[in-house]
Amino acid sequence: MTGSGTRGDAESRIRFLRGELERHNRLYYVDARPEIEDRAYDALYRELEELEKRHPDLVTSDSPTQRVGGEPLSGFSTRTHTVPMMSLGNTYSREELAQFDRRVCDRLGTDRAVYVVEPKIDGVSLSVRYEAGVLVRALTRGDGKTGDDVTANIRTIRSVPLRLSGARPPAVFEARGEVFMTREGFARLNDRRREAGEEPFANARNATAGSIKQLDPKIVAQRPLEVLFYAAGEVAGLDIRSQQQLLKTFREFGLRTHARVWVTSSFDEMWQAVEALDAMRPTLPYDTDGAVIKLDDYARRETVGWTAKAPSWAMAYKYEAETAFTRLTAITVQVGRTGTLTPVAELEPVALAGSTISRATLHNEDEIRRKDIRVGDLVEIKKAGEVIPAVVSVRQESRPASAQPFDMERFLGGQCPECHGPIARDPQFVAWRCENPQCPAQSVRRIRYFAMREALDLQMLGEVVAEALVEKGLIREPLDLYDLTVEKLGALNLGTAESPRLFGEKNAEKLRQALEAARALPLSRWICALGIPEVGESTAYELGRAHRDLVDLAHSDLLRAMQKYYALDASRPKKKEDSAGHASATEDMEKLARKLEAKGAAKPSSAKSKSREWLLAFGPKVVEKVIAYFESPAGLAVLARLAKLGLAPRGDGQASGDAPLAGKTVVLTGTLAGTTRDEATDLIRAAGGSVASTVSKQTDFVVAGENAGSKLDKARELGVPVLDEKAFLARVSGEKKVTKTEPREGWLF
Ligand code: IVH
Repeated sequence: MTGSGTRGDAESRIRFLRGELERHNRLYYVDARPEIEDRAYDALYRELEELEKRHPDLVTSDSPTQRVGGEPLSGFSTRTHTVPMMSLGNTYSREELAQFDRRVCDRLGTDRAVYVVEPKIDGVSLSVRYEAGVLVRALTRGDGKTGDDVTANIRTIRSVPLRLSGARPPAVFEARGEVFMTREGFARLNDRRREAGEEPFANARNATAGSIKQLDPKIVAQRPLEVLFYAAGEVAGLDIRSQQQLLKTFREFGLRTHARVWVTSSFDEMWQAVEALDAMRPTLPYDTDGAVIKLDDYARRETVGWTAKAPSWAMAYKYEAETAFTRLTAITVQVGRTGTLTPVAELEPVALAGSTISRATLHNEDEIRRKDIRVGDLVEIKKAGEVIPAVVSVRQESRPASAQPFDMERFLGGQCPECHGPIARDPQFVAWRCENPQCPAQSVRRIRYFAMREALDLQMLGEVVAEALVEKGLIREPLDLYDLTVEKLGALNLGTAESPRLFGEKNAEKLRQALEAARALPLSRWICALGIPEVGESTAYELGRAHRDLVDLAHSDLLRAMQKYYALDASRPKKKEDSAGHASATEDMEKLARKLEAKGAAKPSSAKSKSREWLLAFGPKVVEKVIAYFESPAGLAVLARLAKLGLAPRGDGQASGDAPLAGKTVVLTGTLAGTTRDEATDLIRAAGGSVASTVSKQTDFVVAGENAGSKLDKARELGVPVLDEKAFLARVSGEKKVTKTEPREGWLF
């Protein structure tokens, strides 16, 4: 079609292509309902370019190909606004807004007026002049009377039509609006700048203002600028009588407007609109800082009038500033409840949204690097809802020369600031965390570990409960749970002071029972519950099989032999003497393995070399962490505490599996003739069982003595076996053995 056509063909094709490109531009930018893909648009564009290259005399300034043209300017010329660009009165208070409405109504002699409420974008205001529908000039606001001629730059913005749509454009139409960048466009621009080694802009407004003042339109064309229109300057050949009509006209001309405005006819409605807009702000793709309230009717505007600077018929209501700039005086590091090390900005106190802020979160080290935040910087802080404020950006231009990039590891000297334990970077996340499970800052994490299904399976003890327990100061360590009374637990408030939500006695009782039942759990579950680093469920299981109890594990000969072996293993290739040492370490381990097996510990299967199998079960990290744990003050304290609480879980596959009541839950009721309640409880525990106070389906059997009451009834109702004293004593002494442990694949018993 473009190849051999006549000039006439080319001319009509050019007209068609320009019309199509304009139409698609409008569908995309104004109506937000594009009909074609970018690629198809580009194809039309290239075809037009081709044709115009071949017929240069057919090129006109309003052709879509002529957006970026000409050489860089040497400066901007100033021009006078035909109608001055005024500013707006503004307020932060509802009361002042109500006064504004009353003033307007008073002047109009009515008690109600119709207003249009629009979002207020914080960008750069602009006046774009169309003559006979063609864009002829674009001026910045300047001082309101004269502005800079930025026509070449504004032409590069695709949401600004070079020609108004519609068959009969007015002789003169000055559209006024705001140039801005969306948050996304701004972020992409700054990313590009950083990649290119250029300094990023402090905020979208600065980036916009800087872009408009660029002398080279080719650079402007690469900036993600957009324009929305909301007011008119000079208009000739068109009668516009209200703001609503103006907005409608804008859209008909293909000039973009706000997607949502409110038309209100009472102060209550106006205020509702202001609040609705406030709620909507986070969902808008660009930053807004207020609402602009304008009297709708133009004739009425004349009645209300103007001051020297601003119209009296309009007002900007500004939302409480969400961000503020202040100096970052230091970075400190906080240890979170799960051991996460969170950098915190210490700030020169600054007022923000009604409070004085002196600290803000920096999230994590990556975030600090990404935003390049340094001590001494002027930083922008932002409050989002009720969460603590965050540092959102840095004013790089006001950075002291001595400011250094932040390095978490160097800053902390590789230690947790709370317990001086080792720190590590979580490979899955960007956070550094304290590796020491006994770090006092990590109570909640330890308690959660303790309650996990793989550990003691305390189902009532979820994250929320664990946090509340620690926050209210009821417990610090998991074993503190055994000291809590049902009353205290039941009164635990999981909600807030204003809307309390109690844990409740019923739940408290269930947790109590679960804690009692946990006494009978095998050693491996308890090892798991301690939350030793590197020790997950399966490692805990192997450790539990290889040891009699926690004391045995704490002094484990096996683990120490393995530690020796690993130490030599690491240095093996280097020295001859070491290989002798190595042989002896292996021998030690084999001896130990045999000894352990002779004592009845679980042994590895089909072992050519027994020591090899042990090595497979516990790697060097596990060995190191377990030994370190039981040598640490915290580990020793846990052992002492367990002994005091009478908690002595037995090694898996050994005594506990053979114990007559292993894993059984027993309820005592009534009076036994020859055994006190305490003695019976001890007997049950010694036999590996646990005592519960209420009968449920989980109860394995009930021991009923004289005068047994409701518990006996309940047992019968649920079909739970009931034993008398004689049968009970026979059972605990092991006359009827219960074997709990099932063999695991790959292991011989
Ligand atoms: S009307 C004579 N409407 O806010 C009234 N201004 O603080 C002309 N602005 O200079 C302005 N959004 O740059 C109007 N929907 C909106 C606006 C808006 C942002 C800016 C504009 C103006 C400044 C006044």
